[in-house]
Amino acid sequence: MKHTNLFANHSVTFATLLLLGSWLVTCQPAPRSVAMQTTNSATPRKVGIVASQGMVSSAHPLATAVGVEILKQGGNATDAAIATFFALAVVYPRAGNIGGGGFAVCRQANGESTALDFREKAPQKASRDMYLDDKGNAQNHLSLAGHLAVGVPASVEGMVALHKKQGKLAWATLLAPAVELAAKGFALTQHEAKYLNQYSEEIIANNPKSIPQHLVKAEGWKEGDWVVHKDLAKTLRLIQEKGRAGFYEGETAALILKEIQRGKGILSQQDLDNYQAIWRTPLIGNYKKYKVITMPPPSSGGIILLQLFRATENYPLRKWGHNTAKTMHVMVEMERRVYADRSVYMGDPDFYKVPQTMLLNKNYIKSRMANINLTQKTPSQQIREGKVEQIESFETTHLSVVDKDRNAVAITTTLNGNYGCKVMVEGAGFFLNNEMDDFSIKVGVPNQFGLVGGEANAIAPNKRMLSSMTPTILADENNKLFMVVGTPGGSTIITSVYQTILNVIEHQMTMQEAVDAKKFHHQWLPDEVILEEKSFSEQLQKQLAAYGHTISYAPTLGRMDCVLVLPNGTLEGGADYTRGDNRAIGY
Ligand code: DON
Repeated sequence: MKHTNLFANHSVTFATLLLLGSWLVTCQPAPRSVAMQTTNSATPRKVGIVASQGMVSSAHPLATAVGVEILKQGGNATDAAIATFFALAVVYPRAGNIGGGGFAVCRQANGESTALDFREKAPQKASRDMYLDDKGNAQNHLSLAGHLAVGVPASVEGMVALHKKQGKLAWATLLAPAVELAAKGFALTQHEAKYLNQYSEEIIANNPKSIPQHLVKAEGWKEGDWVVHKDLAKTLRLIQEKGRAGFYEGETAALILKEIQRGKGILSQQDLDNYQAIWRTPLIGNYKKYKVITMPPPSSGGIILLQLFRATENYPLRKWGHNTAKTMHVMVEMERRVYADRSVYMGDPDFYKVPQTMLLNKNYIKSRMANINLTQKTPSQQIREGKVEQIESFETTHLSVVDKDRNAVAITTTLNGNYGCKVMVEGAGFFLNNEMDDFSIKVGVPNQFGLVGGEANAIAPNKRMLSSMTPTILADENNKLFMVVGTPGGSTIITSVYQTILNVIEHQMTMQEAVDAKKFHHQWLPDEVILEEKSFSEQLQKQLAAYGHTISYAPTLGRMDCVLVLPNGTLEGGADYTRGDNRAIGY
């Protein structure tokens, strides 16, 4: 820790912030993007919030406001990201977390980039067949809910590691707003009230009586209800004062283990003691003149994204147009092939040799895509993983931050499901993850996102489960920061990031338009093109069917939080105001 507790010094600022925040949430509609004329088009364009100094975009207006306040206090992008992260743990508890894990991709103003893996891992006592019954049948419910679904919580260690390497302000300063939000309370948004109501039965089923008392309301939550999280405030204060030890040791650790034992889980003090975040070399590839900096394994996101971009360079998507049947068909065919590779070749690189170089090899991708038929789909049963030789020895949230020096941080973090495994640590006030479901619990058995896997992603003690989270940063041909992107969405994260970037580069959308644009998805299996419901015309759907595609629907796809550097150097924040409570604020 760099300084002592600065909480008191900032209480006035943050009290003001809280007042502002509750006003923002309860009284003010989401800031509307301004309609602007562009020089090359007569159509008014929808531009997100524009600011010259810094920008934060996250899943909740209060958390975004916290990040901006830290930037204004002289914090850098890392500081603001950490403060936003902990604020999300309070105001967005179904995904913001201290009981989960995630990834950070960062790019410093001087062009250096780093990637932090703070992914959960399987506890020491985990075993390959732990979710199979006596007859060898997969028991998916056990990897999804309850105490056995919990991977070693990694977020606090991740934030400590980020701060140690790149932070500027004192750790205590960064925790202060989250502590205050938890202790003094905040107003529920309509979305968050709805989700708490929707999950009340599961929360009741998985927790002792004391927990539902403050998470479940008999008459139901509604927008504007004030919530205080006393236990969480105490836990956050311990983290604020003691850093890593405030979570992985002492009172918090004891409460976690007591909770785990109550549900006959397998997480141990040894797991907590041994957990370490890992600095990994970011994956860097190109799309045309842009440099794409993204997350390597144990996320599959970076490899798949770069494979898609390599393949996309061969097709004139700009000419074919945004979300036309022709464009969508070829994107779906590329996605089908790279997701088939995911199921076989990707897993924790510390346990399985991911053939990264080969998967990203230009010739490999060319041959992999060679049998794409531009007029007819290739059914997924006819697609296997590519021939790769080992030539080398549903809840998440994303935040994007850019500071005045143009340092950038992209963090995607998750509990996996909404409210993770639905178990809250009694007395400590936070939900534990259900990340174990991201492993392949049995060859060919789909997880909650329909993803199948095999050996590469089989469970082993201390192994990290494969992820799709894709925090990504782009630089332009002059090596200047261009874009910061990311989203939740399980397996659909990668294709939403891919489309959002293409929307800006190929379809010349503003950041906000790229976020708003309707999304689609294909992941090899199941063999269907998922469309955002009620967003694509009947005619387009008929055209897709004529290519042979089976169509299914999702209520929404992607909930992006992004920042774009405009040609004049100012920043455009793009946040999903319509699919979620996401908010970009700049100064
Ligand atoms: O790491 C992964 O890929 C998943 N655990 C992410 C889960 C997710 O995005 C759920 N959100 N909608």
